[in-house]
Amino acid sequence: MKYKWRNIIEPFKIKTVEPLGFTTYEEREKILKEAFYNLFNIRAEHVLIDLLTDSGTSAMSVAQWSAIMSADESYAGARSYYHFESTIKEITGYEEIIPVHQGRAAERILFSVIGGKGKYSVSNSHFDTTRANAEASGMVAVDFPVKEAMDFETEAPFKGNMDTYEFEKFIKERGAENISICIITATNNTLGGQPVSMKNLKEVSRLCKTYKIPLFIDCARFAENAYFIRLREEEYSKKPVKEIVKQMFSLADGAMMSAKKDAFANIGGFLAMKNDGWAQTARQNLILTEGFRTYGGLAGRDLDAIAVGLKEVMDERYLEYRIKSTEYLGRGLKNARIPIVNPPGGHGIYVNARKFLPHINENNFPAQSLVCELYLAGGIRAVEIGMLMFGKWDGKGNILPGEMELVRLAIPRRVYTQSHVDYVIEVFSEIEKNRGNIKGLEVIEAPPVLTHFTAKLKPLD
Ligand code: F0G
Repeated sequence: MKYKWRNIIEPFKIKTVEPLGFTTYEEREKILKEAFYNLFNIRAEHVLIDLLTDSGTSAMSVAQWSAIMSADESYAGARSYYHFESTIKEITGYEEIIPVHQGRAAERILFSVIGGKGKYSVSNSHFDTTRANAEASGMVAVDFPVKEAMDFETEAPFKGNMDTYEFEKFIKERGAENISICIITATNNTLGGQPVSMKNLKEVSRLCKTYKIPLFIDCARFAENAYFIRLREEEYSKKPVKEIVKQMFSLADGAMMSAKKDAFANIGGFLAMKNDGWAQTARQNLILTEGFRTYGGLAGRDLDAIAVGLKEVMDERYLEYRIKSTEYLGRGLKNARIPIVNPPGGHGIYVNARKFLPHINENNFPAQSLVCELYLAGGIRAVEIGMLMFGKWDGKGNILPGEMELVRLAIPRRVYTQSHVDYVIEVFSEIEKNRGNIKGLEVIEAPPVLTHFTAKLKPLD
């Protein structure tokens, strides 16, 4: 008889281990106070389960470590660069490949080529560094997410999509010649790690071609997005992820990637495109600030680790485990009556803090209060995506609440096991019983720019 198994297991075994940072409740009380209730200020060794980000925090494979050992550190023309270049050419189909030290460097260089005053960058949602770099070049960044993206309850399959109706309306109002670029972020990190469908990507691509607007993919989590397409778009249910990925890139003119996500690398990224004129200008900028065109601010070993990681991430057994394990956390939290953004995203679960802590006033940071409680209760570090990160200042020293008040639990790749995830769910269940007693926070000091990194807070009396 043929057996069929229901459970998905971690598709790897563990060869190197790193101890977790255990602390007592009393120690965490002191640590939190000394960090001014801002988790960016605490030492990582004082964190038990670190869900601050999935960026640069992956566990590398034996194949990646082997590639690191045999990497070539030559200044120009290193063998490692050619591994990197040929892998990215093969995956994306683009001819011009530019290495950079991380995603935001690719953004800065791209906008230095195509940006400028009076121009627009449009997107399903710019990630915050993408927006900041577009705006630093003088551009205006405009987002057109689909309407259902802000409805955290519905289970729509592709909440990462761009609203193409609004996009076309904008083109007609402002003039296509004023729109320098359209960026599709896949998956959409700002709005719940939700995927973009192939159908939507095709429609965006068609509009961009019609109006001659260059289309780029911010592809930090391209493989997770492709796997969602396979799972949720009937037409692709039998297509290998590799082919889906190829098709995604074929619809655009270029891509930028933070390799700290889906390439399992601890650092690195790239800018890739078809247009050789732009690539030439981009390389001049690269040499000025990042490094020579065959290393772009990376060591040869980083280039090789990325080349291997980019292929590994398209392994369907891995992707099945990845998406299912994120969903497992989401399901566990829902069962513990924690309101999450539905459906679960690819790289993390987003908790709706406004709904979870309705007794905390909007101005007293419900999401950051939950972030602090998670650390205090269980040594878990998450990140606030709410008032501290996106709140607008009214000019009188007050922050006005934004649209979202979320806590992101980002899941590092291949790092934590199911029992770690069960522990996170248990901590949440205990917090749920006590949620009425969780207090809000008030600001002691908060700079107007990138507030969340450096703000100092204290609990309400
Ligand atoms: N684009 C997306 C979609 C991202 O999520 C990030 C980073 C970047 C660009 C910038 O890349 O960090 O390598 O410079 N996201 C991290 C996060 C920081 O925690 O979500 P980078």
